[in-house]
Amino acid sequence: MLLGTLLTGCAKNAPQDTFQPAGPNARSIDDLQRLLFYVSGAVGLIVFAVILAAVIKFKDRGQDIPEQSHGNPKLEIALTILPAVILAIVAVPTVTKVFELDKKDNQCVVNVTGQQWWWEYDYSGVCGGVEIKTPIVTAGELVIPADTPVLLRITSRDVIHSFWIPKLNGKRDAVPGRLHTLRLQADEPGLYTGQCTEFCGLSHARMRQAAVALSKEDFQTWVDRQSAEYVKPEPGSLAEKGQETFISVCSKCHQINDLNNADGTPVLAQPDLYEVSGAAPNLSHLMSRTAFAGWTFDLITDACREKLWNAAPADFGKLYLDGLGGDCFNEATLRAWLRNPPAMKPMYVDPTKLAPTGGRYRGMPNLNLTEDQINQLIAYLLERK
Ligand code: CUA
Repeated sequence: MLLGTLLTGCAKNAPQDTFQPAGPNARSIDDLQRLLFYVSGAVGLIVFAVILAAVIKFKDRGQDIPEQSHGNPKLEIALTILPAVILAIVAVPTVTKVFELDKKDNQCVVNVTGQQWWWEYDYSGVCGGVEIKTPIVTAGELVIPADTPVLLRITSRDVIHSFWIPKLNGKRDAVPGRLHTLRLQADEPGLYTGQCTEFCGLSHARMRQAAVALSKEDFQTWVDRQSAEYVKPEPGSLAEKGQETFISVCSKCHQINDLNNADGTPVLAQPDLYEVSGAAPNLSHLMSRTAFAGWTFDLITDACREKLWNAAPADFGKLYLDGLGGDCFNEATLRAWLRNPPAMKPMYVDPTKLAPTGGRYRGMPNLNLTEDQINQLIAYLLERK
């Protein structure tokens, strides 16, 4: 077990490896940790060598007690100053980097909200030169322009979470009522995974996230698609029945932008009235993402995911934007989720456990949907591109 854990350090294909930075912020941290590793490694080797030499040389062979260094001012002063000098040398780049990483200059701001157990991202203004006319709200997958400094403004709606995409920067806590900033910048288009790194309840391990970096042109396409108007299902189609089911069952917590009731009034999620701890992911463009429910379950098949994750930077954007519908759709997992979400992701949905504290539900409860309703919802959600 211990050996197995140690060997994971040698893994080649490790998407969350801090030793393989893919952007300037992560690279800056990596440079520093390598410097510290070499300095402390050298000190460690010297200390071990001296201990070993002393053990061998002064092994008890019945000889007199060797001469003691206690009370030797020269030696004691030298041994006090030397570590202080080493620490001072190491402090210069460390403190410099702390300030450097805290810089806030950016070409894009994204608000990031952690909640049990997923991340919400909302965009407005101008991002990497692309104007965002209607605010975009999405979940799990943070889509950013490549080679562009992006400033995240991170907070939480419930407990403390921690945002971490190891290849792009260090961690930053998401604390309710506070705003913490973190800069992300990816050198090249690609997908960079991460996960919540602050224990935040039952499904902490299932609170994952990814940053998807796209070229400027592809990012523009993504923004256009996210800003596109609501597409009504064909009258009389299965998807139209799905829309009805969505309004009556799902819309209490989940928002779909521009969705109207039969009388023309907007359907607005009312998360505060219902079971969840704040809100549920906006599903307006669910099918533009590759995973759902805290970025834990794939919306695309294993084969398509392999292809996407291993795509060369030049091919990545096209695959991400165009290759994910149709044959790539992983219907089985979404179907299983709709059938019984808590069976796939523990979320305190047993009401008897909440009764003593009057606590609220967390996450998505089992809605006891019929297979017909599930068929309708899948047909409807498939059109949310
Ligand atoms: Cu959120 Cu751990």
